[in-house]
Amino acid sequence: MSGAYFLTTAIDYVNSAPHLGHAYEKVLADFFARHQQSLGSDVLFLTGVDEHGQKVQQSAQKEGIEPQLFCDEMSARFQRLHESLGVKASHFVRTTDAHHKTIVREWLQRLHDKGEIFFQEYEGYYSIRQEQFVTEKDKVDGQWPEIFGEVIQTKEPNYYFRLEPYRQRLLKHLEENPEFVVPTFRRKELLGALTEPLADLCISRPKSRLSWGIPLPFNEDYVTYVWFDALVNYYSFASIKGTLYWPPDLQIIGKDILIPAHGVYWPIMLFALDQALPKHLLVHGFWTNSGAKISKSDAKSLVDPVPYVEKFGPDVLRYFVLREMVLGQDADFSDERFDTRYTGDLGKKLGNLVQRTLSMIGRYRDGKIPSYDGFHITPADTALRSDAVVEEYRRAVDEFAPHLALQAIWNLVARANEYVEETAPFKLAKDPTQAKRLDAVLGHLAETIRRLSVLIEAALPFTAKKIRAQLQLPLGPVKLEEALFGNSLHGHVIGKPEVLFPPFEEKPQAGT
Ligand code: MSP
Repeated sequence: MSGAYFLTTAIDYVNSAPHLGHAYEKVLADFFARHQQSLGSDVLFLTGVDEHGQKVQQSAQKEGIEPQLFCDEMSARFQRLHESLGVKASHFVRTTDAHHKTIVREWLQRLHDKGEIFFQEYEGYYSIRQEQFVTEKDKVDGQWPEIFGEVIQTKEPNYYFRLEPYRQRLLKHLEENPEFVVPTFRRKELLGALTEPLADLCISRPKSRLSWGIPLPFNEDYVTYVWFDALVNYYSFASIKGTLYWPPDLQIIGKDILIPAHGVYWPIMLFALDQALPKHLLVHGFWTNSGAKISKSDAKSLVDPVPYVEKFGPDVLRYFVLREMVLGQDADFSDERFDTRYTGDLGKKLGNLVQRTLSMIGRYRDGKIPSYDGFHITPADTALRSDAVVEEYRRAVDEFAPHLALQAIWNLVARANEYVEETAPFKLAKDPTQAKRLDAVLGHLAETIRRLSVLIEAALPFTAKKIRAQLQLPLGPVKLEEALFGNSLHGHVIGKPEVLFPPFEEKPQAGT
């Protein structure tokens, strides 16, 4: 056991349906969670939904239903998506959960008791869409940027949390822990945002304006600002498995919520409450749709992951997003790219390798994996036996580069397909003097697809199991070390080959 590993994702707003960006982040986290499990870690993986705030209240009103009912329905939708994608969290977080509400109130009370929160009348600009006060400094070329929506002038007494006293400490933390924000260019952005004094954070909203929130423990006429409420979720459910897992090892978020929410508010909340900071904030980029920005307000831009999962199965979408996106950068989704990955990497490369290996063992050796001896091993076999792929895979995951981890695996797939061409088992089968050599070739191929089933476990868990089922091996859970070469399959009887990624007649048009 290599100890505990605690990872989280952002929790999604329930005011609109889940899209590809949400699906990506959860798959990414699930990939790291499964990887840690395969190393023997005791994993706590949290993901879920953010249910309070004005937008949710408005969406529920529009539908003419109670906000709680609206949240129940939308949360179930997100949860169904996770299930269909094989995203297996330890707990699905909901901020309307009674336990979470208690923790938020406890945190607020503690900050209030410590004098970190104060009450003040404030007059200024307020962005309705962002649910926050804004200042002249937020203007771009003298205009309010579009993300703020309608900006009104308002006067209102509220509760504030002082951030500035912690700015130097946060800067020091960033200096001493260069891996706190990954990738490096995002860390630099955060350092840039910390060069100026920090404004106090308004952490309350008067109930008269917004009722859908957690009441402040020290003034029930106010509810908690939705970001303060949401960030606390990481702590509220950190004890869900009985003991407290703290601090988080990995917190995965999108680039839009690093500054200020996770890069400024969150660490300062933790400082003020004497809690340790997460080890890494891993910041991913955004998906675009055929070049266009994916935006909730533009329905056409949204890529609904559900039809892709239904048509191709969860692993195809998982593979696509993990392979296509260089973690940290933006990436583009299109049916053509999806089709290329499906037909090429999955169908022609992995699927074909598994199918041809199993059918040859069926045809030439009655479904029994042959044993072979050292006399019939060639340099081509030795290359296939190399364990360097496991090291390369592991290093790429440690460096938060799933696309490179998958590339390392697919290099082995390519090597194995070349090996079939080079060794030509179909010819060996016709020559009785080559029977021992054929045993060695089939033995190595069987061993390779067994190893591949272990290596793809974190990214393509369903396919990994299908391959093991066809090999008639235990389905799992597997440990990554099982991906090392080993002659464990001699004499083992396999099952019937089954096509893993069948070709589609027409081009995939799942999204249209
Ligand atoms: N509720 C807040 C997060 C609170 S965390 C304490 C929120 N929700 S969100 O639904 O707007 O976004 C959830 C996650 O999805 C964020 O990490 C966000 O960056 C990510 N994405 C939203 N659109 C995206 C893309 N187009 N592409 C990739 N991820 C994107 O923010």
